[in-house]
Amino acid sequence: MENTGWGSISIRVGNASVSMNKSQGGYHLFSLRSNDRYKGEATKVLTVCKRICRRLNKPLTLTAAPFDDMPMDTKRLVGWYSKRGFVPLKEMPDGKGYFTMPMEYRA
Ligand SMILES: CC(C)(COP(=O)(O)OP(=O)(O)OC[C@H]1O[C@@H](n2cnc3c(N)ncnc32)[C@H](O)[C@@H]1OP(=O)(O)O)[C@@H](O)C(=O)NCCC(=O)NCCS
Repeated sequence: MENTGWGSISIRVGNASVSMNKSQGGYHLFSLRSNDRYKGEATKVLTVCKRICRRLNKPLTLTAAPFDDMPMDTKRLVGWYSKRGFVPLKEMPDGKGYFTMPMEYRA
């Protein structure tokens, strides 16, 4: 874990990493990525972030938006986060494809 100053923390587990920035009285996750997929490393990174926010009693939010070479559409990514305790904060659009979805962790 590295404190980069300016209220931003960067967390890494193996080849997965995320940045956690202070935002509206809580923390917002940015740029979750995993360079060695399907090993549970991104899940572990999220577990660390969730634990920090539970301890601090602060809300934890993110905006689900697939990037890179990720062959997941946003619905699948939202499903991925939902399985890990995050709930969508607006209605899901119909159909498949790219959109962004604000989400919040509910312990
Ligand atoms: C989303 C991401 C971080 C997951 O990383 P990971 O280390 O593979 O995740 P884990 O090993 O912890 O989780 C494995 C789960 O993710 C699924 N998964 C991972 N990559 C996937 C892919 N490319 N397509 C479909 N499913 C994928 C696995 O099927 C598994 O699902 P399950 O728990 O329902 O069985 C990774 O795919 C990634 O880096 N994507 C590109 C960056 C990105 O778009 N980030 C989102 C920013 S909001």
